[in-house]
Amino acid sequence: MNVYSRITGTGSYLPEKVLSNQDLEKMVETSDQWIQERTGIRKRHIAEAEQTTCDLAEQAARRALEAAGKTPEDLDLIIVATTTPDKIFPSTACLLQQRLGNHGCPAFDIQAVCTGFVYAMDVANKFIRTGAARTALVVGAETLSRIVDWTDRGTCILFGDGSGAVVLEASEEPGILSTHLHADGAYEELLHVPGGVSRGFEVAVETGADPRFMQMKGNEVFKMAVNTLGRIVDETLAANQMKKSDIDWLVPHQANIRIIKATARKLSMDMDNVVVTVHEHGNTSAASVPLALDTAVRDGRIKRGETLLLEAFGGGFTWGSILLKY
Ligand code: COA
Repeated sequence: MNVYSRITGTGSYLPEKVLSNQDLEKMVETSDQWIQERTGIRKRHIAEAEQTTCDLAEQAARRALEAAGKTPEDLDLIIVATTTPDKIFPSTACLLQQRLGNHGCPAFDIQAVCTGFVYAMDVANKFIRTGAARTALVVGAETLSRIVDWTDRGTCILFGDGSGAVVLEASEEPGILSTHLHADGAYEELLHVPGGVSRGFEVAVETGADPRFMQMKGNEVFKMAVNTLGRIVDETLAANQMKKSDIDWLVPHQANIRIIKATARKLSMDMDNVVVTVHEHGNTSAASVPLALDTAVRDGRIKRGETLLLEAFGGGFTWGSILLKY
């Protein structure tokens, strides 16, 4: 008998505090019009100083568990995708496990930047398909505002905080149909935070920028993202012997509306069948795909039995796709 992993509950959370494009106009030389035209973003949510990634993860996780009709004790796997963990260790997944009151199941973080949730889903799917887990919690959660240079208009307009989660369960019905993951570390310098635990936070940065904060060559990242996501759409369709028209919903990484539209064009897909939430929260990295998914599930757009293509691209570079029957 084939065992599939099926999404049985979704949840998401955005911090209350909102930073609008108008607010950013007062912080850097930019305009609401420029930001909307180039990115589609209108606002982003920012965690309070005392609010951590684990706080955000917990909110999304509890909502996903409730939607699935599960309790924390039912979980036999917890994975958190994040680039902004609360502590160097323990992992945010272990901190979340403690909050939820689950004792004993494996819990670990995955770091694949904006592709983190797609990577985490792939790993959880493999646990379930091999019988190592039956009920998994997969969370993407970020407090990216902590690694953004709020004086750099090239990056600070793009990013925000948030979380999203799914409960995946073993099922005889599909379920996740395919997963494709990739990385190419050759592009480190295009998108990175130069400082770190091992290198230290005092490393010299050519531009004189603060090594604690994100550095990005936006234009080059943009081109790479569009080309790479186009290729992964082809790869996913070919592996499943599917036509473009077999996909009901594209649930893309929410980085930039122009990147999303380019992927939709590649799929010959009407924008009505693309879940877009980037205007509401900007790029929330690992949280963005589950945030978009939860939004469209809860507002009734995505229905049981429909075919969904989830995709993401991020620092590393990393990229990946998940094709699933919801
Ligand atoms: N407000 C106003 N002007 C800005 C600006 C801002 N916030 N940021 C940059 N500019 C200016 C630039 O200085 C440049 O001016 P110049 O022509 O006088 O030199 C001009 O706008 C064009 O800059 P450019 O970088 O070519 O713009 P762009 O069309 O590529 O848009 C991004 C910039 C960052 C929005 C775009 O490159 C992008 O979204 N890249 C992908 C980023 C991303 O998604 N990263 C995460 C991947 S997971």
